[in-house]
Amino acid sequence: PVIRREDYLPPAWLIPEIALDFALGLDETVVVSKLSVRRNPDGNGTATLRLNGDQIAPRAVTVDGTALNDWKLDGPDLLIELAGDAHEVAIETVLNPAANSQLMGLYASNGMLCTQCEAEGFRRITFFPDRPDVLSTYSVRMSGDKATFPILLANGNCTAEGEGEDGTHWAEWHDPWPKPSYLFALVAGELVANHATFTTMSGRRVDLNVWVRPGDEGRTQHAMDSLIASMKWDEETFGREYDLDLFNIVAVSDFNMGAMENKGLNVFNTRYVLADPDTATDADYDAVEGVIGHEYFHNWSGNRVTCRDWFQLSLKEGFTVLRDQLFSADMGSEPVKRIEDVRVLRIAQFPEDSGPLAHPIRPDSYQEISNFYTATVYNKGAEVIRMMRTMAGEEAFRKGTDLYFERHDGTAATCEDFVKAIEDGTGLDLARFRLWYSQAGTPQVSARLEHDGRIARLALTQTVPATPGQPEKAPMPIPLRIALFDRDTGTHAGEHLVILDGDEGSFAFEGFDKPPVLSINRGFSAPVAIEMEREDEDLVFLAANDDDPFARYEAMQSLVLQHLVAAVGGGLDEARRASGRAAIGRAMKAIVTDPELDDLMRGELMILPAESYLAEQLLVSDPGVIHAEREALKAWLGLELADELKALHDRISAVPYSRDAAARGARKLKTQALVLIASGDAGEGAARAIAQYRKADNMTDRQGAVMVLAGLDCPEREEALADFLARYEGNALVIDKWFSLQAGSFHPRVLEQIHALAQHDEFRMSNPNRVRSLYMAAAVNPQAFHDASGAGYAMIGELIRKLDPINPQTAARFVPALGRWRRVEPGRAAMMRAELEKIAAVPSLSRDVREQVTKSLG
Ligand code: ARG
Ligand code: ZN
Repeated sequence: PVIRREDYLPPAWLIPEIALDFALGLDETVVVSKLSVRRNPDGNGTATLRLNGDQIAPRAVTVDGTALNDWKLDGPDLLIELAGDAHEVAIETVLNPAANSQLMGLYASNGMLCTQCEAEGFRRITFFPDRPDVLSTYSVRMSGDKATFPILLANGNCTAEGEGEDGTHWAEWHDPWPKPSYLFALVAGELVANHATFTTMSGRRVDLNVWVRPGDEGRTQHAMDSLIASMKWDEETFGREYDLDLFNIVAVSDFNMGAMENKGLNVFNTRYVLADPDTATDADYDAVEGVIGHEYFHNWSGNRVTCRDWFQLSLKEGFTVLRDQLFSADMGSEPVKRIEDVRVLRIAQFPEDSGPLAHPIRPDSYQEISNFYTATVYNKGAEVIRMMRTMAGEEAFRKGTDLYFERHDGTAATCEDFVKAIEDGTGLDLARFRLWYSQAGTPQVSARLEHDGRIARLALTQTVPATPGQPEKAPMPIPLRIALFDRDTGTHAGEHLVILDGDEGSFAFEGFDKPPVLSINRGFSAPVAIEMEREDEDLVFLAANDDDPFARYEAMQSLVLQHLVAAVGGGLDEARRASGRAAIGRAMKAIVTDPELDDLMRGELMILPAESYLAEQLLVSDPGVIHAEREALKAWLGLELADELKALHDRISAVPYSRDAAARGARKLKTQALVLIASGDAGEGAARAIAQYRKADNMTDRQGAVMVLAGLDCPEREEALADFLARYEGNALVIDKWFSLQAGSFHPRVLEQIHALAQHDEFRMSNPNRVRSLYMAAAVNPQAFHDASGAGYAMIGELIRKLDPINPQTAARFVPALGRWRRVEPGRAAMMRAELEKIAAVPSLSRDVREQVTKSLG
């Protein structure tokens, strides 16, 4: 069944209060839910109360204290006929958390009990109007065996606790803030806390806890530091203060996504909590900080103001991603963070926009909402709000967000409400800008710079490509930050913000005796693709001179991209190949040796465009050729710059471990230098990598070395992999790395190795982190996935079929890789399609996988 945005109706019945009683057990939990039911004056007046359920059955139902015998089931939902306007309804259900492999609702993980309710998991716990516009005050009582569940947590504050019979105990929790059911949470188990306090700007003392399994407490300090920094930052940057006396974070090892912002009780995937230098890379540290911030920021953008319906998901996710991006930028390097965010957008979101699953940031329909927790809703959603901020300026934008929070606090709002508040708060006219919410597809902007007399004229045109269900598109306002550089001085006279509002636009700039060099979409001010014919020398100029660090990175990316696209298209004769390589070599050498650059930024500039981003540039492409050309360029660079790279690797190998930016920059570069050295000379690469591995005193260096070795066919590879596994026995997150480093390598026999890893004792189909560590790494590894035999496609197809009955949400995440078949050369495309058809033929397919496969087949 297709759910449509335009069919929204307000709820017929409201539930101002709910009292939940849990008798906890790992394989049997009894839930009694008491609902105060009130007719919604704005509803349609129906006498039928529809309570959603999913794989649960009512054991008893009472209405106003009287047992009901004639309740009806409509599919999974419970229907109760009510005569008046106010009733008390009680429902008993029984759950088996240990058997809940979908990890939605109440489930067992590692001997503890926890919940995941967003988007529609609450209906797997009890019958309820499980939609985000029904807000209730929750009171929770839970009881259970004290030895199994020494710690009992729920949303809000603990109001009472005590001992029961037969070694049980109980606790009562109350959350004063009305919330939708998707924000409900409960956790019970053996946990230990890293405890701290935070005093808010108005003087409220808040108890903070990061709860983990005993033994993991030594890896929680970075999470705690990140939480405290988030709380402070949101006060200073957005004026948002925390609103309870307690804030709990719990780390669980079986989790479908990253983390969940349940009110006062955030539940996290362990990988976004646990970090210490021996087990977490610098990137892992950054991810912890970012996700801790993200979930904390949801307390306002998500919880205090929630979503009216799931089509509005980007209201909370796009905005919260922007907030976490700005937070991370303030905590570290702003330009480096911007570059990373754009790289993610291009690798993960651009392919969504140009494929069969394309959808606007505010979708119009869905079959399974879990499939819409996408890079489009999250990351493009953040870019759309960032554009408003760019057009308004920071100060005015803050007025807009203040107005938004003030107007909609305590309610379930829409994306339209957000845009209206920004409009009213900033004074911007966003009438046409709203198209960014309704149109899918990455706008293509072509740019041409003409020079005439003393005038430079920038001519721009845009097209928004057709996407499934949206054949015709209107032009959208596109804010582009630009600068025009003087070739002789290497400087410009000031940045401009031009807004391309229609199909085409022309912008004139005076005072140029010679044709300037155009720097466009600086800071990636708009999430568009820029098409422009550019001389290599202009790009080399910008890569060396642009004062916008993002633009500098962009120039380097374009230089390489232009070369590789031509090479992949077969359009390079030997002379042009040589001159293209020479230009890239010059630019790269300047980057490697520039004393002014900090190493974190240098590391960004040295990253070559991803193969998937390269494929994006071509309508249809051969992944084998893309892979070969990109690897060939790496090998050429590794040889051409061998001396510089070795000198760089030597210099930074001497920098001692610390968490400061300089040392982190050194570690990032160390591995990048190693990658290029190994591409040029495998023997030299192996020797340096194993030396780096043996003397490593931190995970960044160790993982970098193993990453390089995993792709080489040499004895050092086996030494490092065996040592790594033995050293980290019992540490699930590091064992995940061991799997993904191998599955992601460009080793000639990588497919064979992945098949062997699937049989390894440590592999678990029931644990999403482990499944992703092996198979997601494989699915994004072009050498494995796009193997010319089709074996990579078959492997992912088989995984989807095996995983779907266990965990449909995680299984569905693998479908888009196969769904790209239209953009791949015909031989492989046929094999990819055949895999999709094989999946589609499974009769008992989940709604999650069914939707993705059907849309992918088109
Ligand atoms: N709201 C969570 C976050 O962005 C994501 C939860 C999504 N869960 C799901 N099962 N789809 O932080
Ligand atoms: Zn979120």
